[in-house]
Amino acid sequence: MRIPLTILLAVVLSTYAFVAPLSDDHVVDANADAPVHFSLFVPIVAKSDTVENVTQFLTSAVPLVEAELKTVQWYAVKYTNFSTPTFAIFDTFRSEEGRVAHLNGKVASALFDNADALLDGAPGIKPANILASKVASKPDTGNATAGLTVGLTIPLTAKPGQVNATREVLVSVLPGIEQEALTVDWYALEFPDTNSFAIIVFFAIEEGRDAHLNGQVAAALFASAETLLTALPDVVEFEVVAVTIK
Ligand SMILES: *[C@@H]1O[C@H](CO)[C@@H](O)[C@H](O)[C@H]1NC(C)=O
Ligand SMILES: *[C@@H]1O[C@H](CO)[C@@H](O)[C@H](O)[C@H]1NC(C)=O
Ligand SMILES: *[C@@H]1O[C@H](CO)[C@@H](O)[C@H](O)[C@H]1NC(C)=O
Ligand SMILES: *[C@@H]1O[C@H](CO)[C@@H](O)[C@H](O)[C@H]1NC(C)=O
Repeated sequence: MRIPLTILLAVVLSTYAFVAPLSDDHVVDANADAPVHFSLFVPIVAKSDTVENVTQFLTSAVPLVEAELKTVQWYAVKYTNFSTPTFAIFDTFRSEEGRVAHLNGKVASALFDNADALLDGAPGIKPANILASKVASKPDTGNATAGLTVGLTIPLTAKPGQVNATREVLVSVLPGIEQEALTVDWYALEFPDTNSFAIIVFFAIEEGRDAHLNGQVAAALFASAETLLTALPDVVEFEVVAVTIK
């Protein structure tokens, strides 16, 4: 009996990945089929005269992030309203191991090496679990932002006793998000061991943002806010600086 080479290879590779977590990141990702459940949200505050420098730094980080096997999606954004943190990085992983590898990787170390010169304080790193996501963007190496232009973050704080209900509502709106043609990438996040959640959402065109904010999902979330949340959510706008999608 002959076993096709591709099957044999797949079996050998998956067995190897399973029994031998590799020290060399670049051979195979043992978690390649796992959902993206792990993430980091990293607000960054530039100094008043280093906004351009930080923009350049984030754009220049793209090839380094692309080389990180276990970093799946990586987004760098610049807030429209500078009274909030100036920038944020949001990135996703299929495993805790991938998240740790990123934190020990070249981009993170370059960011910390440049923190004194470029930033107003060290970046705060917030690990978050991804409760639900829609990722419709595609890898586009010819485009520094994978075609995404603008987005929103919506931080949410659940009332004590409403943490589970808030989590359930965020998961339950995903089918509605899937129906929103102009909503490209959407993530519902939970910051573990806090009452804090967030939505982060990306659009290719400005009209997508307006349609999302005026859509049924936003209406449903705002309708449940009084029951679930400590305050009505702030909607924070950003523009997209750099993206890698795998
Ligand atoms: C920021 O960029 C400008 C222009 O390239 C440069 O002159 C300046 O030295 C940079 N500042 C820092 C802190 O790197
Ligand atoms: C920027 O944020 C401040 C404080 O949150 C708010 O008062 C102001 O209206 C915002 N400006 C814009 C243009 O959104
Ligand atoms: C990247 O995509 C955006 C949004 O579709 C577009 O505005 C921009 O021109 C593109 N840039 C390049 C270099 O193709
Ligand atoms: C919340 O959910 C967790 C696990 O899903 C459960 O153990 C806990 O009892 C729930 N808490 C409330 C207040 O329902």
